[in-house]
Amino acid sequence: MKQFTSINDVQNIEQLILLSEKVKKNPFGYKSFGENKTLGLLFFNPSLRTRLSTHKAALNLGMNVMIMNLNNDGWSIELEDGTIMNEGTQEHIKEAAGVISQYCDVIGIRTFASLTNKQEDYKEEIINKFINYATVPVISLESATLHPLQSFADLITINENKTNNKPKVVLTWAPHPKALPQAVANSFVEWLKKANVELVVTNPKGFNLSTQFTKGVNVIHNQSDALKNADFVYAKNWSSYVNYGKIGSEFNDWTITKEKMDLTNNGKFMHCLPVRRNVVVSDEIIDSKNSLVLEQAKNRTYAAQAVLLKILQDEK
Ligand code: CP
Repeated sequence: MKQFTSINDVQNIEQLILLSEKVKKNPFGYKSFGENKTLGLLFFNPSLRTRLSTHKAALNLGMNVMIMNLNNDGWSIELEDGTIMNEGTQEHIKEAAGVISQYCDVIGIRTFASLTNKQEDYKEEIINKFINYATVPVISLESATLHPLQSFADLITINENKTNNKPKVVLTWAPHPKALPQAVANSFVEWLKKANVELVVTNPKGFNLSTQFTKGVNVIHNQSDALKNADFVYAKNWSSYVNYGKIGSEFNDWTITKEKMDLTNNGKFMHCLPVRRNVVVSDEIIDSKNSLVLEQAKNRTYAAQAVLLKILQDEK
């Protein structure tokens, strides 16, 4: 694997899932692959889980890790070619990616959507330019439109907790006071479409995800109908794709509550975290025995470890 920015970079998903199961059983058994290798983790945005789990995954593999918060600690980066750089930007992405490649064997990048310009966000300019100018593999730590490490961990968690061969998995929009990207939801749909599940997406009208992701998926605008007999309920807010960046504060009754979960087949609750309690989900649901949020967070390590290991194995 030369890069990991979406499920499309994975040649064989079943094999990658098997690898994650192997590293979960034996996390320190693959150190020979990471010895004397360095992972650089670059953050344009905040992170708790992605930063710590990917760092831990690399340490489990015997890698060295360097972390940089580019917005706070780096020079201001220029993305455009041919610019006369006599204003705010101080370092061109060509040099930044080229230089970091001198220090790192794999580079991870987190770069969120602006939510102000859909075309720009969906072009994935920052991560694509890093890939273009870096000379080592690049992995996404969440880009403008996708969060594949999260979705891989979510799929591992569903596989571990399913009680029938083809569970019903419902991705439901949930309220949030601030505009959030569509990345987690896009990615979740992309990954779950390839799994043996009955996938349903439910969101208010005006909040459909791009058909680039939901083509062929059952999208329902009545949340209660969608939740009936669900085995897994994955709650996530995303701002509108159509009316780009709109919040949807008129849909505050989409919070996941006990009343909603009672419609399900004793469904398991999932969320990528961080979560706004009693906005996205009520305390009694996230604190219940059916909540998988900590298992999802735990599996972030093994998802990242499988991805890093596959890249290191293929580089050998
Ligand atoms: N789920 C997730 O990516 O969490 P962080 O933003 O804290 O990394």
